Amino acid sequence: MFFEPSTRTKLSFETAMKRLGGSCIGIDSAASSSIIKGESIADTAKMFESYSDALIIRHELEGVSRFISEIVDVPVINAGDGAGQHPTQTLLDLYTMKKEFGHIENLNVALVGDLKYGRTVHSLSYALGLFNVKMTFVSPQELKMPKEILMDLEKNQIEYFEEEHLEKVIDDVDILYDTRIQKERFPDEEEYNKIKDAYLINKEMLEGKDLIVMHPLPRVNEISYDVDNTKHNRYFQQAFNAVPVRMAILETLIKNNPKYI
Ligand code: NCD
Repeated sequence: MFFEPSTRTKLSFETAMKRLGGSCIGIDSAASSSIIKGESIADTAKMFESYSDALIIRHELEGVSRFISEIVDVPVINAGDGAGQHPTQTLLDLYTMKKEFGHIENLNVALVGDLKYGRTVHSLSYALGLFNVKMTFVSPQELKMPKEILMDLEKNQIEYFEEEHLEKVIDDVDILYDTRIQKERFPDEEEYNKIKDAYLINKEMLEGKDLIVMHPLPRVNEISYDVDNTKHNRYFQQAFNAVPVRMAILETLIKNNPKYI
């Protein structure tokens, strides 16, 4: 059930399900379902429950997947809920890091860009907090990591650093995890225009540095195309890894559903 645009998440979930020998049904928008006639999302989810073994949901409102998970008996996967979370992206991010370095412990990671509205970095910061990593949040003042996430990290005694200037961290990091400024979440377009080009990573800035660049994609104006053919590019590999990771997620959840045991 995809109520927001998606390329990688939707297509990689579909590919994953098909490679496992399954199939997919779905909707791409409220307009292509009876929600446009006024049907509730709860009733819509109930129908999907009758026709499928797992629900994958992307929606502009935070908490929608959690709400649906409480009213259906099949596994529910949050494929992005507004400016909330994007946990399966995090699993493929961690997988990409582990494949690259052989470990996640002790990595030095900078999360860069829109940390306020970016759901991928919200989920990733919780996950990285489970490992002993050095985590630096690099963003303009207006787009800092939300207070409630920082409080959660502090409650769990997870150390983090905050920084406004990318130049200050770029020499030391193993991973630059860059993100798009989430235009669609800004209440005011003027505000977006002021900071839309806050960080643009290009080939020259990376010269002589021993780091990889990750990005959940889509990129808009964060990574110059001249980075694509350098040793730093891992964002395409990351998107490629989405399929095996999502195959593992689907198989694990469906196999462990009491309905089938
Ligand atoms: C992200 C998303 O939808 O949150 N994309 C993705 O799933 N790979 C990032 C974004 O839209 O900027």
